[in-house]
Amino acid sequence: MSVVRSLLLKASESRRMREAFPKYAFMRRAVMRFMPGEDLEDALRAGQAFAGQNIGVIYTRLGENVLDLDAAREVAEHYIGALGRIADMQLDAQVSVKLTQLGLDISKDACEANLRAVVERAAALNNMIWIDMEQSALVDATLDMFRRVRAQHENVGVCLQAYLRRTDADLASLMPLRPAIRLVKGAYMEPPAVAFPDKSDVDASYLKIALQLLEATRRGDALAVMATHDPALIQRVRDAGERLQVPRGEVEFAMLYGIRRDEQQRLAAEGYRVRVLISYGTHWYPWFMRRLAERPANVLFVLKNLAGR
Ligand code: FDA
Repeated sequence: MSVVRSLLLKASESRRMREAFPKYAFMRRAVMRFMPGEDLEDALRAGQAFAGQNIGVIYTRLGENVLDLDAAREVAEHYIGALGRIADMQLDAQVSVKLTQLGLDISKDACEANLRAVVERAAALNNMIWIDMEQSALVDATLDMFRRVRAQHENVGVCLQAYLRRTDADLASLMPLRPAIRLVKGAYMEPPAVAFPDKSDVDASYLKIALQLLEATRRGDALAVMATHDPALIQRVRDAGERLQVPRGEVEFAMLYGIRRDEQQRLAAEGYRVRVLISYGTHWYPWFMRRLAERPANVLFVLKNLAGR
């Protein structure tokens, strides 16, 4: 892991910086490259613009490690309201939640009740909910929760992180559920005993799992979303899809708002399913630091905003 990346990931976990940084105007200006605004309405407007390009969206309200049950319940209610707005506007838009935002750190039962309420509302509106994957210490709890809710509801999917050494085995254990899986590289700071430290190993793991998911998609045993901006991996997934004769319309790619827009449009124009994850909300600090860590060159962009250019 590069020094800059690990410094940025460390900073993402600093409470003091989380309180101080969002007050600076240059930070607020810089973050707007990665989100259309702090309000749900900003995100909904951005989603409408993507609809014209045949690109769907996924919404997530920023916030994690909520430490009070009322706040966790409020997050669930917010998402239930957001699902209603999505349906009213007839947007092709799903929702992605973090379990720690729904109370996982405080009470598993309360978190499950919140998740179920959101998933049930989505089911009634014919929509689907994704569960983000957070730090490695939360993987067991996240997968348990996914399994329990998936037992009653098909409209829930979970994210798996290719950088974790355990993910291959996790996928095998989930396959009997015919799961919906969003495959990412992984965005947190993890020790080498838990996650591959070298990019080449992470990429190899990503490709291996992506191939298993494509095969399962072809058999109708999984719904797979390849969430990556990596051009080499995208090309290899495309090649594998052609080789396995998975129709393009069944191969889904997902990217983050503001990153590689050209590739998003190109894939959609070529017949692949594409979704853009749009984040909104005021609690953007740790999330923004993880975006900087993914591409330390982004720090220059922040500095340009500091210089007022
Ligand atoms: P990689 O980091 O190798 O980047 C490949 C190329 O993409 C770079 O060379 C650059 O061109 C571009 N790029 C990538 N990140 C960029 C950035 N921040 N700014 C500018 N350019 C950038 N993680 C997690 O742990 N749990 C989760 O639930 C999710 N959920 C999720 C959903 C979706 C839809 C996406 C796209 C991503 C996530 N992630 C995530 C984040 C994921 O783990 C990962 O950190 C990022 O996607 C960056 O990894 P890439 O696969 O893009 O490759």
